[in-house]
Amino acid sequence: MISPYEKKENLSVSGDVVWHNATVTHADRLALKKQKPVVLWFTGLSGSGKSTVANAVESKLLSLGKHSYLLDGDNIRHGLNQDLGFTDADRVENIRRISEVAKLFVDAGSIVLTAFISPFIADREQARSLLGAGQFLEVYIDTPLDVCEQRDPKGLYKKARAGEINNFTGIDSAYEAPINADVHIKTADRSVEECAEAVVEQLNKLGYI
Ligand code: ADX
Repeated sequence: MISPYEKKENLSVSGDVVWHNATVTHADRLALKKQKPVVLWFTGLSGSGKSTVANAVESKLLSLGKHSYLLDGDNIRHGLNQDLGFTDADRVENIRRISEVAKLFVDAGSIVLTAFISPFIADREQARSLLGAGQFLEVYIDTPLDVCEQRDPKGLYKKARAGEINNFTGIDSAYEAPINADVHIKTADRSVEECAEAVVEQLNKLGYI
């Protein structure tokens, strides 16, 4: 089996495609936006509350006058990543593309929120190293599997248990929880508002906003 982590051949950087430096720089955009761009990388099981909390955080950022952009798992899979499924290899490619897109938005000066299960530590670390120093914060939306399964907002756990869906995270596909997340949010007995407030507080404490 080919390892999903095996680096694919880079077809364009073989010599004929040359990096072009733009006239307007990252520093120019930062000066205009007056904010410190960063990726808030939400990770957690399906139904853990990643999208919900990320949405609430984004609303708070808006009210603080911060420019942000939310990349959401289910939505991105309708467009950019519609060719990808849920095998390990496809998830690796999903996260690789999202990391690259997030990097572009950070370069543009935005605070980026990504809400993907992103089940593998290696991929999240790869995303961290792709972004510049201080431009990546891992936000662990820590909701136990049994709580996610009880919530089952899309009825997918039920289908996975019935064997109607394969490779479902937490059922027959792995989730590697963060070991040392930059922000650790336990959602089980907190409101969405409290969770979002805790993320914003941490951003504040770390000097991002
Ligand atoms: S990831 O693992 O590659 O990061 P991503 O966040 O993009 O996953 O997509 C997860 C969403 O796809 C889930 O919230 C769920 O709605 C849906 N989904 C459909 N099939 C699966 C599956 N087999 N495993 C996990 N999520 C699935």
